[in-house]
Amino acid sequence: MSLMPARPAPPIVFVLFGANGDLTARLVFPALYNLAAQKLLPESFAVVAVTRVEYGEKKMRDHLRESLGKYCNEKCDLAVVEDLVSRVSVAVADASEPKSFETLGAHLKEIDAKHGTKGNRIFYLAIPPAGFAPTVKALGAAGLTRQTNGAIARVIVEKPFGHDLDSAMKLNAELREVLDEDQIFRIDHYLGKETVQNILMLRFANGLFEPIWKREHIDHVQITVAETVTIGRRGAFYDATGALRDMVPNHLFQLLSLVAMEPPARLNADSVRSEKARALDAIRIVTPQEALRDSVRAQYVAGRIGDEVVSDYRLEKDVAPNSTTETFAALKLSIDNWRWAGVPFYLRTGKGLARRHTEVAIKFREAPISMFRGIDLDGLRSNYLVLQIAPDEGITLQFNAKTPGPNLSIARVAMDFRYADFFETQPASGYETLLYDCMTGDGLLYQRADGVEAGWRAVEPFLKAWRDAGDQGLALYRAGSSGPAEADALLARDGRRWRQVV
Ligand SMILES: NC(=O)c1ccc[n+]([C@@H]2O[C@H](COP(=O)([O-])OP(=O)(O)OC[C@H]3O[C@@H](n4cnc5c(N)ncnc54)[C@H](OP(=O)(O)O)[C@@H]3O)[C@@H](O)[C@H]2O)c1
Repeated sequence: MSLMPARPAPPIVFVLFGANGDLTARLVFPALYNLAAQKLLPESFAVVAVTRVEYGEKKMRDHLRESLGKYCNEKCDLAVVEDLVSRVSVAVADASEPKSFETLGAHLKEIDAKHGTKGNRIFYLAIPPAGFAPTVKALGAAGLTRQTNGAIARVIVEKPFGHDLDSAMKLNAELREVLDEDQIFRIDHYLGKETVQNILMLRFANGLFEPIWKREHIDHVQITVAETVTIGRRGAFYDATGALRDMVPNHLFQLLSLVAMEPPARLNADSVRSEKARALDAIRIVTPQEALRDSVRAQYVAGRIGDEVVSDYRLEKDVAPNSTTETFAALKLSIDNWRWAGVPFYLRTGKGLARRHTEVAIKFREAPISMFRGIDLDGLRSNYLVLQIAPDEGITLQFNAKTPGPNLSIARVAMDFRYADFFETQPASGYETLLYDCMTGDGLLYQRADGVEAGWRAVEPFLKAWRDAGDQGLALYRAGSSGPAEADALLARDGRRWRQVV
Protein backbone atom coordinates (compact mmCIF):
# COMPACT_ATOMS: atom_id res chain seq x y z
CA MET A 1 0.00 0.00 0.00
CA SER A 2 1.62 3.23 -1.10
CA LEU A 3 0.53 6.79 -1.80
CA MET A 4 2.71 6.83 -4.93
CA PRO A 5 1.22 6.08 -8.36
CA ALA A 6 1.71 2.39 -9.10
CA ARG A 7 4.54 1.44 -11.44
CA PRO A 8 5.36 -2.00 -12.82
CA ALA A 9 6.87 -4.27 -10.19
CA PRO A 10 10.59 -5.15 -10.42
CA PRO A 11 11.70 -8.23 -12.41
CA ILE A 12 10.43 -11.36 -10.70
CA VAL A 13 9.72 -15.08 -11.03
CA PHE A 14 6.45 -16.05 -9.40
CA VAL A 15 6.85 -19.62 -8.17
CA LEU A 16 3.38 -20.99 -7.57
CA PHE A 17 3.12 -24.10 -5.39
CA GLY A 18 -0.32 -25.74 -5.68
CA ALA A 19 -0.65 -24.47 -9.25
CA ASN A 20 -3.32 -27.06 -10.06
CA GLY A 21 -5.41 -26.20 -6.98
CA ASP A 22 -8.63 -24.32 -6.39
CA LEU A 23 -7.12 -21.13 -4.97
CA THR A 24 -4.75 -20.71 -7.89
CA ALA A 25 -7.55 -21.08 -10.42
CA ARG A 26 -10.09 -18.92 -8.61
CA LEU A 27 -8.00 -16.12 -7.18
CA VAL A 28 -4.23 -16.13 -7.66
CA PHE A 29 -3.90 -16.55 -11.41
CA PRO A 30 -6.83 -14.20 -12.15
CA ALA A 31 -5.10 -11.64 -9.90
CA LEU A 32 -1.88 -12.01 -11.94
CA TYR A 33 -3.94 -11.51 -15.08
CA ASN A 34 -5.53 -8.34 -13.65
CA LEU A 35 -2.09 -7.00 -12.73
CA ALA A 36 -0.87 -7.76 -16.25
CA ALA A 37 -3.93 -6.06 -17.76
CA GLN A 38 -3.23 -2.99 -15.61
CA LYS A 39 0.41 -3.06 -16.79
CA LEU A 40 1.68 -3.60 -13.25
CA LEU A 41 3.72 -6.70 -14.03
CA PRO A 42 7.27 -6.09 -15.21
CA GLU A 43 8.46 -7.00 -18.68
CA SER A 44 10.88 -9.45 -16.98
CA PHE A 45 8.29 -11.71 -15.44
CA ALA A 46 7.71 -15.45 -15.39
CA VAL A 47 5.50 -17.94 -13.58
CA VAL A 48 6.77 -21.35 -12.51
CA ALA A 49 3.79 -23.60 -11.80
CA VAL A 50 4.80 -26.22 -9.24
CA THR A 51 3.03 -29.52 -8.54
CA ARG A 52 4.18 -32.59 -6.65
CA VAL A 53 3.55 -34.89 -9.57
CA GLU A 54 4.27 -34.29 -13.24
CA TYR A 55 1.55 -32.15 -14.84
CA GLY A 56 2.96 -31.16 -18.21
CA GLU A 57 3.49 -27.64 -19.54
CA LYS A 58 0.77 -27.67 -22.18
CA LYS A 59 -1.79 -29.11 -19.80
CA MET A 60 -0.90 -26.53 -17.13
CA ARG A 61 -1.09 -23.63 -19.58
CA ASP A 62 -4.47 -24.87 -20.83
CA HIS A 63 -5.71 -25.25 -17.26
CA LEU A 64 -4.63 -21.74 -16.25
CA ARG A 65 -5.99 -20.22 -19.46
CA GLU A 66 -9.30 -21.93 -18.77
CA SER A 67 -9.33 -20.65 -15.19
CA LEU A 68 -9.11 -17.10 -16.52
CA GLY A 69 -12.08 -17.71 -18.78
CA LYS A 70 -14.06 -18.85 -15.73
CA TYR A 71 -12.96 -16.40 -13.08
CA CYS A 72 -11.98 -13.14 -14.80
CA ASN A 73 -14.40 -10.49 -13.56
CA GLU A 74 -14.55 -8.79 -16.92
CA LYS A 75 -14.12 -10.16 -20.38
CA CYS A 76 -10.44 -11.06 -20.66
CA ASP A 77 -8.12 -9.33 -23.09
CA LEU A 78 -6.90 -12.31 -25.12
CA ALA A 79 -3.53 -10.74 -25.96
CA VAL A 80 -2.83 -10.26 -22.24
CA VAL A 81 -4.00 -13.81 -21.50
CA GLU A 82 -1.71 -15.32 -24.13
CA ASP A 83 1.26 -13.21 -23.05
CA LEU A 84 0.79 -14.26 -19.42
CA VAL A 85 0.23 -17.93 -20.25
CA SER A 86 3.33 -17.96 -22.48
CA ARG A 87 5.41 -17.02 -19.42
CA VAL A 88 4.28 -20.14 -17.52
CA SER A 89 6.63 -23.10 -17.20
CA VAL A 90 6.17 -26.13 -14.96
CA ALA A 91 8.28 -27.80 -12.29
CA VAL A 92 7.81 -30.79 -10.03
CA ALA A 93 8.81 -30.37 -6.38
CA ASP A 94 7.86 -32.49 -3.41
CA ALA A 95 9.14 -31.53 0.05
CA SER A 96 9.63 -35.19 0.93
CA GLU A 97 12.17 -35.45 -1.92
CA PRO A 98 14.84 -32.78 -1.33
CA LYS A 99 16.45 -33.49 -4.72
CA SER A 100 13.33 -32.20 -6.45
CA PHE A 101 14.00 -28.76 -4.95
CA GLU A 102 17.53 -28.79 -6.34
CA THR A 103 16.00 -29.50 -9.74
CA LEU A 104 13.59 -26.62 -9.14
CA GLY A 105 16.60 -24.40 -8.38
CA ALA A 106 18.24 -25.36 -11.68
CA HIS A 107 14.97 -24.60 -13.49
CA LEU A 108 14.78 -21.18 -11.83
CA LYS A 109 18.29 -20.38 -13.03
CA GLU A 110 17.23 -21.20 -16.58
CA ILE A 111 14.16 -18.99 -16.21
CA ASP A 112 16.34 -16.13 -14.91
CA ALA A 113 18.54 -16.44 -17.98
CA LYS A 114 15.56 -16.57 -20.33
CA HIS A 115 13.45 -13.78 -18.78
CA GLY A 116 16.07 -11.53 -17.17
CA THR A 117 14.50 -11.95 -13.74
CA LYS A 118 17.81 -11.43 -11.90
CA GLY A 119 17.31 -14.17 -9.32
CA ASN A 120 14.27 -12.41 -7.79
CA ARG A 121 11.68 -14.91 -6.58
CA ILE A 122 8.32 -14.98 -4.87
CA PHE A 123 7.26 -18.40 -3.65
CA TYR A 124 3.48 -18.53 -3.26
CA LEU A 125 2.32 -21.45 -1.09
CA ALA A 126 -1.19 -22.07 -2.49
CA ILE A 127 -1.16 -25.46 -0.79
CA PRO A 128 -2.82 -26.94 2.31
CA PRO A 129 -1.29 -25.81 5.65
CA ALA A 130 0.37 -29.17 6.26
CA GLY A 131 2.70 -28.31 3.37
CA PHE A 132 3.78 -24.82 4.57
CA ALA A 133 6.67 -25.69 6.91
CA PRO A 134 8.05 -28.68 4.92
CA THR A 135 8.03 -26.64 1.70
CA VAL A 136 9.84 -23.69 3.29
CA LYS A 137 12.35 -26.07 4.88
CA ALA A 138 13.00 -27.73 1.52
CA LEU A 139 13.38 -24.32 -0.18
CA GLY A 140 15.90 -23.33 2.48
CA ALA A 141 17.84 -26.58 2.22
CA ALA A 142 18.14 -26.11 -1.54
CA GLY A 143 19.49 -22.58 -0.98
CA LEU A 144 16.49 -20.99 -2.70
CA THR A 145 15.60 -18.57 0.11
CA ARG A 146 19.04 -16.90 0.20
CA GLN A 147 18.98 -13.27 -0.87
CA THR A 148 22.42 -12.89 -2.41
CA ASN A 149 23.69 -10.04 -4.59
CA GLY A 150 20.58 -7.96 -3.94
CA ALA A 151 18.21 -10.64 -5.24
CA ILE A 152 14.94 -11.10 -3.36
CA ALA A 153 13.34 -14.30 -2.07
CA ARG A 154 9.93 -13.85 -0.44
CA VAL A 155 7.39 -16.44 0.62
CA ILE A 156 3.64 -15.86 0.65
CA VAL A 157 1.92 -18.12 3.17
CA GLU A 158 -1.81 -18.76 2.87
CA LYS A 159 -4.34 -19.01 5.66
CA PRO A 160 -5.06 -20.70 7.99
CA PHE A 161 -1.97 -19.68 9.88
CA GLY A 162 -2.14 -22.29 12.62
CA HIS A 163 -5.27 -23.66 14.26
CA ASP A 164 -4.51 -22.34 17.75
CA LEU A 165 -1.84 -20.34 19.56
CA ASP A 166 0.63 -23.22 19.91
CA SER A 167 0.43 -24.29 16.27
CA ALA A 168 0.74 -20.67 15.08
CA MET A 169 3.82 -20.15 17.26
CA LYS A 170 5.30 -23.42 16.02
CA LEU A 171 4.71 -22.46 12.40
CA ASN A 172 6.22 -19.00 12.97
CA ALA A 173 9.27 -20.62 14.55
CA GLU A 174 9.62 -23.12 11.68
CA LEU A 175 9.41 -20.38 9.07
CA ARG A 176 11.92 -18.23 10.91
CA GLU A 177 14.44 -21.04 11.03
CA VAL A 178 14.73 -20.49 7.30
CA LEU A 179 13.48 -16.96 6.62
CA ASP A 180 13.81 -13.48 8.08
CA GLU A 181 10.50 -11.94 9.17
CA ASP A 182 10.63 -9.49 6.25
CA GLN A 183 10.77 -12.42 3.79
CA ILE A 184 7.50 -13.85 5.17
CA PHE A 185 4.23 -12.54 3.73
CA ARG A 186 1.23 -14.03 5.61
CA ILE A 187 -1.74 -13.29 3.43
CA ASP A 188 -5.24 -12.43 4.59
CA HIS A 189 -7.23 -11.50 1.52
CA TYR A 190 -9.48 -9.23 3.63
CA LEU A 191 -6.63 -6.75 3.62
CA GLY A 192 -6.77 -6.72 -0.17
CA LYS A 193 -10.25 -5.20 -0.06
CA GLU A 194 -10.34 -1.50 -0.80
CA THR A 195 -12.93 -0.77 1.88
CA VAL A 196 -10.82 -2.47 4.52
CA GLN A 197 -7.80 -0.39 3.54
CA ASN A 198 -10.05 2.64 3.53
CA ILE A 199 -10.57 2.33 7.29
CA LEU A 200 -6.99 3.62 7.64
CA MET A 201 -7.76 6.56 5.35
CA LEU A 202 -11.08 7.34 7.01
CA ARG A 203 -9.50 7.45 10.44
CA PHE A 204 -6.12 8.99 9.78
CA ALA A 205 -6.53 11.15 6.68
CA ASN A 206 -9.49 13.07 8.13
CA GLY A 207 -9.48 15.40 11.11
CA LEU A 208 -13.19 14.84 11.59
CA PHE A 209 -13.42 11.35 13.05
CA GLU A 210 -10.32 10.79 15.16
CA PRO A 211 -11.22 13.23 17.98
CA ILE A 212 -14.43 11.30 18.65
CA TRP A 213 -12.92 7.85 18.05
CA LYS A 214 -12.78 6.89 21.72
CA ARG A 215 -14.63 5.75 24.78
CA GLU A 216 -16.01 9.21 25.61
CA HIS A 217 -18.04 9.20 22.38
CA ILE A 218 -18.42 5.61 21.27
CA ASP A 219 -20.94 3.34 22.95
CA HIS A 220 -19.88 0.10 21.29
CA VAL A 221 -18.65 -1.44 18.03
CA GLN A 222 -20.30 -4.26 16.08
CA ILE A 223 -18.43 -6.31 13.50
CA THR A 224 -20.53 -8.60 11.33
CA VAL A 225 -19.39 -11.05 8.67
CA ALA A 226 -22.53 -12.88 7.58
CA GLU A 227 -22.46 -15.45 4.79
CA THR A 228 -25.32 -17.14 2.97
CA VAL A 229 -23.14 -20.00 1.81
CA THR A 230 -23.20 -23.19 3.80
CA ILE A 231 -20.18 -25.46 4.05
CA GLY A 232 -20.72 -26.99 0.62
CA ARG A 233 -18.14 -29.65 -0.16
CA ARG A 234 -15.72 -28.45 2.51
CA GLY A 235 -17.27 -30.58 5.28
CA ALA A 236 -14.06 -32.31 6.38
CA PHE A 237 -12.13 -29.03 6.60
CA TYR A 238 -14.97 -27.09 8.20
CA ASP A 239 -15.93 -29.66 10.80
CA ALA A 240 -12.35 -29.64 12.08
CA THR A 241 -12.24 -25.84 12.03
CA GLY A 242 -15.52 -24.07 12.85
CA ALA A 243 -16.65 -20.48 12.41
CA LEU A 244 -14.44 -19.00 15.11
CA ARG A 245 -11.13 -20.40 13.87
CA ASP A 246 -12.06 -19.91 10.24
CA MET A 247 -13.01 -16.24 10.51
CA VAL A 248 -12.26 -14.49 13.79
CA PRO A 249 -8.48 -14.48 14.42
CA ASN A 250 -7.90 -13.48 10.81
CA HIS A 251 -10.67 -11.60 8.99
CA LEU A 252 -12.68 -10.17 11.89
CA PHE A 253 -9.55 -9.25 13.80
CA GLN A 254 -8.19 -7.42 10.77
CA LEU A 255 -11.28 -5.24 10.89
CA LEU A 256 -11.14 -4.91 14.67
CA SER A 257 -7.47 -3.95 14.74
CA LEU A 258 -7.88 -1.31 12.03
CA VAL A 259 -10.77 0.24 13.97
CA ALA A 260 -9.11 -0.03 17.38
CA MET A 261 -5.43 0.74 16.67
CA GLU A 262 -3.68 3.93 17.74
CA PRO A 263 -2.50 6.29 14.97
CA PRO A 264 0.74 4.87 13.53
CA ALA A 265 3.70 7.24 13.37
CA ARG A 266 4.22 6.52 9.66
CA LEU A 267 2.47 4.81 6.78
CA ASN A 268 4.88 1.94 6.67
CA ALA A 269 4.64 -1.77 7.35
CA ASP A 270 6.38 -1.72 10.71
CA SER A 271 4.50 1.24 12.20
CA VAL A 272 1.07 0.08 11.08
CA ARG A 273 1.58 -3.56 12.00
CA SER A 274 3.00 -2.66 15.41
CA GLU A 275 -0.09 -0.61 16.23
CA LYS A 276 -2.42 -3.33 14.96
CA ALA A 277 -0.63 -5.96 17.03
CA ARG A 278 -0.81 -3.70 20.10
CA ALA A 279 -4.57 -3.35 19.68
CA LEU A 280 -4.99 -7.13 19.47
CA ASP A 281 -2.67 -7.58 22.40
CA ALA A 282 -4.95 -5.33 24.47
CA ILE A 283 -7.95 -7.64 24.02
CA ARG A 284 -8.79 -8.92 27.48
CA ILE A 285 -7.90 -12.57 28.00
CA VAL A 286 -11.04 -13.99 29.57
CA THR A 287 -11.51 -16.71 32.16
CA PRO A 288 -13.36 -19.93 31.18
CA GLN A 289 -16.52 -18.63 32.92
CA GLU A 290 -16.30 -15.28 31.13
CA ALA A 291 -15.67 -17.06 27.83
CA LEU A 292 -18.93 -19.00 28.16
CA ARG A 293 -20.83 -15.94 29.39
CA ASP A 294 -19.56 -13.62 26.65
CA SER A 295 -19.93 -15.88 23.63
CA VAL A 296 -22.51 -17.74 21.60
CA ARG A 297 -21.81 -20.68 19.31
CA ALA A 298 -24.45 -22.26 17.16
CA GLN A 299 -25.07 -24.67 14.28
CA TYR A 300 -27.54 -24.23 11.46
CA VAL A 301 -30.44 -26.62 11.10
CA ALA A 302 -32.61 -27.26 8.05
CA GLY A 303 -34.04 -24.19 6.36
CA ARG A 304 -34.19 -22.35 3.09
CA ILE A 305 -31.81 -19.72 1.74
CA GLY A 306 -33.43 -18.11 -1.27
CA ASP A 307 -34.43 -21.03 -3.47
CA GLU A 308 -31.97 -23.42 -1.89
CA VAL A 309 -33.19 -25.98 0.60
CA VAL A 310 -30.54 -26.57 3.26
CA SER A 311 -30.28 -29.59 5.53
CA ASP A 312 -29.05 -29.73 9.13
CA TYR A 313 -25.32 -29.01 9.48
CA ARG A 314 -24.86 -32.43 11.09
CA LEU A 315 -26.28 -34.09 7.98
CA GLU A 316 -23.84 -32.36 5.62
CA LYS A 317 -21.29 -34.51 3.80
CA ASP A 318 -18.13 -35.26 5.85
CA VAL A 319 -19.59 -33.77 9.05
CA ALA A 320 -19.74 -35.95 12.17
CA PRO A 321 -23.37 -36.79 13.08
CA ASN A 322 -22.70 -35.63 16.66
CA SER A 323 -20.49 -32.69 15.67
CA THR A 324 -20.27 -29.77 18.11
CA THR A 325 -18.49 -27.55 15.57
CA GLU A 326 -20.06 -24.11 15.37
CA THR A 327 -21.19 -22.58 12.09
CA PHE A 328 -22.01 -19.32 13.87
CA ALA A 329 -20.01 -17.52 16.54
CA ALA A 330 -20.64 -14.32 18.43
CA LEU A 331 -18.25 -12.79 20.96
CA LYS A 332 -18.22 -9.82 23.26
CA LEU A 333 -14.65 -8.56 23.64
CA SER A 334 -13.11 -5.84 25.76
CA ILE A 335 -10.03 -3.91 24.74
CA ASP A 336 -8.12 -2.96 27.84
CA ASN A 337 -6.52 0.34 26.98
CA TRP A 338 -7.28 3.99 27.64
CA ARG A 339 -9.03 4.54 24.34
CA TRP A 340 -11.45 1.63 24.59
CA ALA A 341 -11.95 0.80 28.28
CA GLY A 342 -15.66 0.09 28.80
CA VAL A 343 -16.50 0.00 25.06
CA PRO A 344 -17.57 -3.54 24.09
CA PHE A 345 -16.66 -4.91 20.69
CA TYR A 346 -19.35 -7.36 19.58
CA LEU A 347 -18.29 -9.73 16.80
CA ARG A 348 -20.46 -12.20 14.92
CA THR A 349 -19.93 -14.41 11.93
CA GLY A 350 -21.82 -17.33 10.51
CA LYS A 351 -22.70 -19.45 7.53
CA GLY A 352 -26.13 -20.24 6.11
CA LEU A 353 -27.53 -16.85 7.13
CA ALA A 354 -30.22 -14.82 5.40
CA ARG A 355 -27.95 -12.32 3.69
CA ARG A 356 -24.30 -11.94 2.73
CA HIS A 357 -23.20 -8.89 4.59
CA THR A 358 -19.95 -7.59 6.05
CA GLU A 359 -19.83 -4.37 8.01
CA VAL A 360 -18.30 -2.56 10.94
CA ALA A 361 -20.85 -0.43 12.79
CA ILE A 362 -19.69 2.15 15.31
CA LYS A 363 -22.47 3.27 17.60
CA PHE A 364 -22.01 6.66 19.21
CA ARG A 365 -23.23 7.59 22.64
CA GLU A 366 -26.48 9.43 23.02
CA ALA A 367 -26.52 13.15 23.66
CA PRO A 368 -25.72 13.72 27.35
CA ILE A 369 -28.83 15.76 27.92
CA SER A 370 -31.77 15.50 25.60
CA MET A 371 -34.17 18.41 25.22
CA PHE A 372 -36.57 15.78 23.86
CA ARG A 373 -36.82 13.95 27.16
CA GLY A 374 -40.37 13.35 28.22
CA ILE A 375 -41.54 13.58 24.62
CA ASP A 376 -42.48 10.27 23.10
CA LEU A 377 -40.27 10.25 20.04
CA ASP A 378 -40.43 6.79 18.66
CA GLY A 379 -37.88 7.26 15.94
CA LEU A 380 -35.09 8.78 18.07
CA ARG A 381 -32.03 6.61 17.50
CA SER A 382 -28.35 6.81 18.26
CA ASN A 383 -25.87 7.74 15.59
CA TYR A 384 -24.14 4.97 13.74
CA LEU A 385 -21.16 5.18 11.45
CA VAL A 386 -21.30 2.07 9.30
CA LEU A 387 -18.34 0.90 7.24
CA GLN A 388 -19.78 -1.42 4.63
CA ILE A 389 -17.36 -3.96 3.27
CA ALA A 390 -19.51 -6.43 1.31
CA PRO A 391 -21.45 -6.80 -0.87
CA ASP A 392 -21.87 -3.01 -1.18
CA GLU A 393 -18.81 -0.98 -0.44
CA GLY A 394 -19.33 2.34 1.23
CA ILE A 395 -19.70 4.39 4.38
CA THR A 396 -22.97 5.50 5.94
CA LEU A 397 -23.54 7.98 8.75
CA GLN A 398 -26.94 7.63 10.36
CA PHE A 399 -28.52 10.45 12.32
CA ASN A 400 -31.92 11.81 13.34
CA ALA A 401 -33.80 14.48 11.42
CA LYS A 402 -37.12 16.19 11.88
CA THR A 403 -39.79 14.98 9.51
CA PRO A 404 -41.40 17.92 7.67
CA GLY A 405 -44.73 19.18 8.99
CA PRO A 406 -46.25 20.89 12.00
CA ASN A 407 -45.88 17.92 14.36
CA LEU A 408 -42.69 17.16 16.18
CA SER A 409 -41.70 13.82 14.80
CA ILE A 410 -38.38 12.38 13.99
CA ALA A 411 -36.91 10.04 11.41
CA ARG A 412 -33.59 8.32 10.98
CA VAL A 413 -31.76 9.48 7.86
CA ALA A 414 -28.39 8.63 6.41
CA MET A 415 -25.51 10.26 4.61
CA ASP A 416 -24.34 7.64 2.20
CA PHE A 417 -21.05 7.31 0.37
CA ARG A 418 -20.88 4.50 -2.23
CA TYR A 419 -17.55 3.64 -3.73
CA ALA A 420 -19.10 2.94 -7.10
CA ASP A 421 -20.55 6.49 -7.28
CA PHE A 422 -17.15 8.14 -6.95
CA PHE A 423 -14.53 5.81 -8.31
CA GLU A 424 -14.10 3.79 -11.39
CA THR A 425 -13.17 0.39 -10.03
CA GLN A 426 -10.76 -1.98 -11.73
CA PRO A 427 -11.74 -5.64 -12.03
CA ALA A 428 -10.20 -7.31 -9.00
CA SER A 429 -10.12 -10.61 -7.16
CA GLY A 430 -8.89 -8.84 -4.01
CA TYR A 431 -5.44 -10.42 -4.34
CA GLU A 432 -3.99 -7.89 -6.81
CA THR A 433 -2.89 -5.25 -4.31
CA LEU A 434 -1.44 -7.93 -2.07
CA LEU A 435 0.57 -9.63 -4.81
CA TYR A 436 1.80 -6.31 -6.13
CA ASP A 437 2.82 -5.23 -2.62
CA CYS A 438 4.77 -8.45 -2.12
CA MET A 439 6.55 -7.91 -5.44
CA THR A 440 7.51 -4.40 -4.35
CA GLY A 441 8.45 -5.54 -0.83
CA ASP A 442 5.68 -3.74 1.06
CA GLY A 443 4.40 -5.90 3.91
CA LEU A 444 1.92 -3.37 5.34
CA LEU A 445 -1.12 -5.36 4.23
CA TYR A 446 0.31 -8.70 5.34
CA GLN A 447 0.17 -10.14 8.81
CA ARG A 448 3.22 -10.09 11.04
CA ALA A 449 4.02 -12.91 13.48
CA ASP A 450 3.15 -10.88 16.60
CA GLY A 451 -0.27 -9.90 15.21
CA VAL A 452 -1.12 -13.49 14.32
CA GLU A 453 -0.10 -14.74 17.76
CA ALA A 454 -1.96 -11.94 19.59
CA GLY A 455 -5.09 -12.90 17.64
CA TRP A 456 -4.86 -16.56 18.62
CA ARG A 457 -4.11 -15.63 22.22
CA ALA A 458 -7.36 -13.65 22.41
CA VAL A 459 -9.58 -16.43 21.01
CA GLU A 460 -7.86 -19.31 22.77
CA PRO A 461 -10.01 -19.11 25.97
CA PHE A 462 -13.19 -19.33 23.87
CA LEU A 463 -11.91 -22.33 21.93
CA LYS A 464 -10.93 -24.09 25.13
CA ALA A 465 -14.15 -23.30 27.01
CA TRP A 466 -16.25 -24.51 24.08
CA ARG A 467 -14.23 -27.68 23.71
CA ASP A 468 -14.61 -28.43 27.42
CA ALA A 469 -18.35 -27.72 27.32
CA GLY A 470 -19.02 -30.25 24.50
CA ASP A 471 -22.54 -29.78 23.24
CA GLN A 472 -23.64 -27.98 26.42
CA GLY A 473 -24.61 -24.47 25.37
CA LEU A 474 -24.41 -25.16 21.63
CA ALA A 475 -27.32 -23.19 20.15
CA LEU A 476 -29.19 -23.81 16.89
CA TYR A 477 -30.46 -21.48 14.20
CA ARG A 478 -32.51 -22.02 11.10
CA ALA A 479 -30.59 -21.82 7.85
CA GLY A 480 -31.72 -18.63 6.11
CA SER A 481 -32.39 -16.79 9.39
CA SER A 482 -30.37 -13.97 10.96
CA GLY A 483 -28.73 -16.33 13.46
CA PRO A 484 -29.58 -17.77 16.88
CA ALA A 485 -31.78 -15.97 19.43
CA GLU A 486 -28.94 -16.47 21.93
CA ALA A 487 -26.83 -13.98 19.94
CA ASP A 488 -29.57 -11.38 20.34
CA ALA A 489 -29.67 -12.15 24.06
CA LEU A 490 -25.90 -11.53 24.32
CA LEU A 491 -26.49 -7.88 23.42
CA ALA A 492 -29.93 -7.53 25.00
CA ARG A 493 -28.27 -8.30 28.33
CA ASP A 494 -26.29 -5.06 27.90
CA GLY A 495 -29.36 -3.12 26.70
CA ARG A 496 -28.14 -3.23 23.10
CA ARG A 497 -29.07 -4.96 19.88
CA TRP A 498 -27.45 -6.06 16.65
CA ARG A 499 -28.06 -4.14 13.49
CA GLN A 500 -30.35 -6.21 11.34
CA VAL A 501 -28.89 -8.39 8.62
CA VAL A 502 -32.16 -9.72 7.20
N1 LIG B 1 -9.63 -22.20 -2.09
C1 LIG B 1 -9.90 -21.07 -1.48
O1 LIG B 1 -10.84 -20.35 -1.78
C2 LIG B 1 -9.03 -20.57 -0.36
C3 LIG B 1 -9.35 -19.36 0.27
C4 LIG B 1 -8.50 -18.88 1.28
C5 LIG B 1 -7.38 -19.61 1.62
N2 LIG B 1 -7.10 -20.79 1.01
C6 LIG B 1 -5.90 -21.52 1.40
O2 LIG B 1 -5.08 -21.66 0.24
C7 LIG B 1 -4.39 -22.89 0.25
C8 LIG B 1 -4.70 -23.65 -1.02
O3 LIG B 1 -6.08 -23.86 -1.10
P1 LIG B 1 -6.73 -24.77 -2.24
O4 LIG B 1 -8.19 -24.75 -1.99
O5 LIG B 1 -6.22 -24.39 -3.58
O6 LIG B 1 -6.14 -26.18 -1.81
P2 LIG B 1 -6.17 -27.56 -2.60
O7 LIG B 1 -6.88 -27.37 -3.90
O8 LIG B 1 -6.66 -28.56 -1.62
O9 LIG B 1 -4.62 -27.84 -2.81
C9 LIG B 1 -3.83 -27.18 -3.77
C10 LIG B 1 -2.74 -28.08 -4.27
O10 LIG B 1 -1.76 -28.26 -3.25
C11 LIG B 1 -1.06 -29.47 -3.50
N3 LIG B 1 -0.84 -30.12 -2.21
C12 LIG B 1 -1.71 -30.84 -1.48
N4 LIG B 1 -1.15 -31.22 -0.31
C13 LIG B 1 0.12 -30.73 -0.32
C14 LIG B 1 1.21 -30.79 0.60
N5 LIG B 1 1.10 -31.41 1.77
N6 LIG B 1 2.36 -30.18 0.23
C15 LIG B 1 2.48 -29.53 -0.93
N7 LIG B 1 1.48 -29.46 -1.84
C16 LIG B 1 0.32 -30.04 -1.53
C17 LIG B 1 -1.93 -30.30 -4.44
O11 LIG B 1 -1.30 -30.38 -5.70
P3 LIG B 1 -0.29 -31.56 -6.07
O12 LIG B 1 -0.79 -32.80 -5.37
O13 LIG B 1 -0.33 -31.65 -7.55
O14 LIG B 1 1.03 -31.12 -5.57
C18 LIG B 1 -3.19 -29.47 -4.61
O15 LIG B 1 -3.69 -29.45 -5.91
C19 LIG B 1 -4.83 -23.59 1.53
O16 LIG B 1 -3.90 -23.35 2.54
C20 LIG B 1 -6.16 -22.93 1.86
O17 LIG B 1 -6.42 -22.98 3.24
C21 LIG B 1 -7.89 -21.29 0.02
